[in-house]
Amino acid sequence: MSEHPSVIPERGAEPSDALVFFGATGDLAFKKIFPALQSLVKRGRLDVPIVGVAKSGWGLEQLRARARESITTHGKLDEAAFAKLSSHLRYVDGDYNDPETFKQIYRELGSAKRPTHYLAIPPSMFPVVVQQLATAGCCNRGSRVVVEKPFGRDLASARALNKTLLEVFPESCIFRIDHYLGKEAVQNILYFRFANAFLEPILNRQYVENVQITMAESFGVKGRGKFYEETGVIRDVIQNHLLQVISYLAMEAPSSTYAEAIRDEQAKVLRTIRPMSPENMVRGQFRGYRDEPGVAKDSYMATYAALRLHVDSWRWDGVPFFVRAGKSLAMTCTEVMVELKNPPQVVFKEPVPRMGNYLRFRLSPRVMIALGARAKTPGEAMIGEPTELSVAEEPEQGAGGRMEAYERLLGDAMLGDATLFARQDVVEAAWAIVDPIIHGPSALYEYDQGSWGPHEADRLVEDVGGWNPIAP
Ligand code: BG6
Repeated sequence: MSEHPSVIPERGAEPSDALVFFGATGDLAFKKIFPALQSLVKRGRLDVPIVGVAKSGWGLEQLRARARESITTHGKLDEAAFAKLSSHLRYVDGDYNDPETFKQIYRELGSAKRPTHYLAIPPSMFPVVVQQLATAGCCNRGSRVVVEKPFGRDLASARALNKTLLEVFPESCIFRIDHYLGKEAVQNILYFRFANAFLEPILNRQYVENVQITMAESFGVKGRGKFYEETGVIRDVIQNHLLQVISYLAMEAPSSTYAEAIRDEQAKVLRTIRPMSPENMVRGQFRGYRDEPGVAKDSYMATYAALRLHVDSWRWDGVPFFVRAGKSLAMTCTEVMVELKNPPQVVFKEPVPRMGNYLRFRLSPRVMIALGARAKTPGEAMIGEPTELSVAEEPEQGAGGRMEAYERLLGDAMLGDATLFARQDVVEAAWAIVDPIIHGPSALYEYDQGSWGPHEADRLVEDVGGWNPIAP
């Protein structure tokens, strides 16, 4: 056994001493940020001034009331933790174009030297906000900026967006949130792969037949028609969440000797995925999408997409990676299925089974890691049946005091640990994969709500025996 005393070294980053969050009266703050802030306070991970900024004509008391309502609706109110959170809250009401707003933020920051600025606002507002922050002196050395996806609409705009941020913050201080990276189940892909030695010999082209990643959502666009019209499924969840998942699943083992190792490996593996071509993609739109508020009557936006990816690496050459994601499908479930090859010869007189051996990561709503294998059915005949060994299982997300993605990510950003954030080269590598298919024209097939998407998508998986059935 080799000696290895080192763990990932500290980055030398100092914790932030204030949090400023823009968009404090908005939807994201209501659904995710306030519950995360209370949890951070409760665990003793946040004990600094928290300045909410928005333009709503509100005062601090209204923000506190909103925070309480948000936590009651989307979390679990803890009176003691909430009282502490309330005491840290400040509020600045003002226009992002008005320098006075930023002077007020500066005053509210008091003696804080290293604030984290969280931009929970549309990307179109980023340039003005970061410039105003800089002008007002709110970006001292060591201050950070946290931004939400979408990180651009394509490769070129992602680069432009980054240029804007880099004018004020160095890359090491830019934290791009892809909330999938903060999910326990996604981290477990990485952990399960590299905390065990037994998987390494089989996770490659010698043993893996194909990989299928399904992100099915049984609901539609939930009133976000306008947003979805500009986004579509590829930009909404494939370019970011699902390619991040693939990067964890397909990357080489990161070294533990330096802090950026994991993100380096992510970038490397994404660069080995061939840019997509339209023949390897099927797009769909659920019937009824065009009647959603904010959606054009002749919309050509995809609410479903299935892709066949090729990873051009020594490890994965020839192993197809399939991705399918869609709204208004038969169920809500995100699952990664690694199908292993069958034994090379038939030893027992029984039909060769499909999916005899596999590795399954269910990411939501239940969380599970399972190994599929065959075992002999009791009795005279040498025939078997599929069995599944569940390695780890949890009933539902967020159960058992598990840390929610936003809590983990905000806490990490405050500490300056960027491991679970999307680095710019990773973001660009992911855009480079989908860029050719989001620009070019391509067919769009309708599908029924509650189905598994357009049957035209079956052609992508014909040679591997079809899409893997997803158990409820
Ligand atoms: C968001 C997308 O980023 O992720 C949504 O904008 C999608 O369309 C959501 O529903 C899925 O996240 P989760 O955590 O519910 O799987």
